[in-house]
Amino acid sequence: MKKYLIAGNWKMHGTKQSVCDLVASLAKLNLASNVDVAVFPTYLHIDYVAQSLSKSTIKVGAQNCAYQEKQGALTGEISAEQLKDIGCKMVLIGHSERRQYLAEANQVLAKKFIAACSVDLVPILCVGETLEQRSSGNYQNIITNQISSIIDIVGIELFSKAIIAYEPIWAIGTGMVATSIQAQEVHLVIRNFLANINTDLANNMQILYGGSLNSTNIKDLLGMPDIDGGLIGGASLSAQDFSLMCNLAGEIN
Ligand code: 13P
Repeated sequence: MKKYLIAGNWKMHGTKQSVCDLVASLAKLNLASNVDVAVFPTYLHIDYVAQSLSKSTIKVGAQNCAYQEKQGALTGEISAEQLKDIGCKMVLIGHSERRQYLAEANQVLAKKFIAACSVDLVPILCVGETLEQRSSGNYQNIITNQISSIIDIVGIELFSKAIIAYEPIWAIGTGMVATSIQAQEVHLVIRNFLANINTDLANNMQILYGGSLNSTNIKDLLGMPDIDGGLIGGASLSAQDFSLMCNLAGEIN
């Protein structure tokens, strides 16, 4: 049976009070055996969330990490080592918002990937195309290039520790969710691309879909053969919606 990962990326959202309320609800979740859940609060809230969920199976991750794994002179950054120390298990690498608005390129993303792995944080590598790139018809190559440029630097052995999140940029926060056929097509392209390198790696790789996922479309998308979970933005900020999505994933077999 497939094991789904339902991941909530809280982005730059949350106050002390709203995070406290959200976590109190999530702590009560009764998860099906085929569902893992992880949440990605802001750096400010990680410690509180990790402590509050310490008795739950829900994992806590970070939305980013520094490109150096250790502590050091790098003003304003947070290292993978510090994230591990505070209770993180995972870290998002290369979310499209960071690629687009903070100019994070593959070279630095690969360093972050290596930093994460060096302290056993699971990197979730985010990839995806813009609407323009999709319209050009070249989106499959764009996505596999995003993956291969990381593999070329970190090596296939380290890459096998990762999770991939396919997040079409045109679907993020727009309500324009990819159809299950569009998403499955890209997920299969990614899996086939990995299979050309190593079949076991391809078979074991969890590939999440992200972009306007909600409780009405999650079963459709996660029901596809190569979609192994979801990376959820907006809908993960509502305890009711996110809990429902976790429960709906548990109904898929
Ligand atoms: P939305 O679910 O708000 O579209 O965001 C998706 C996303 O970017 C998750 O990382």
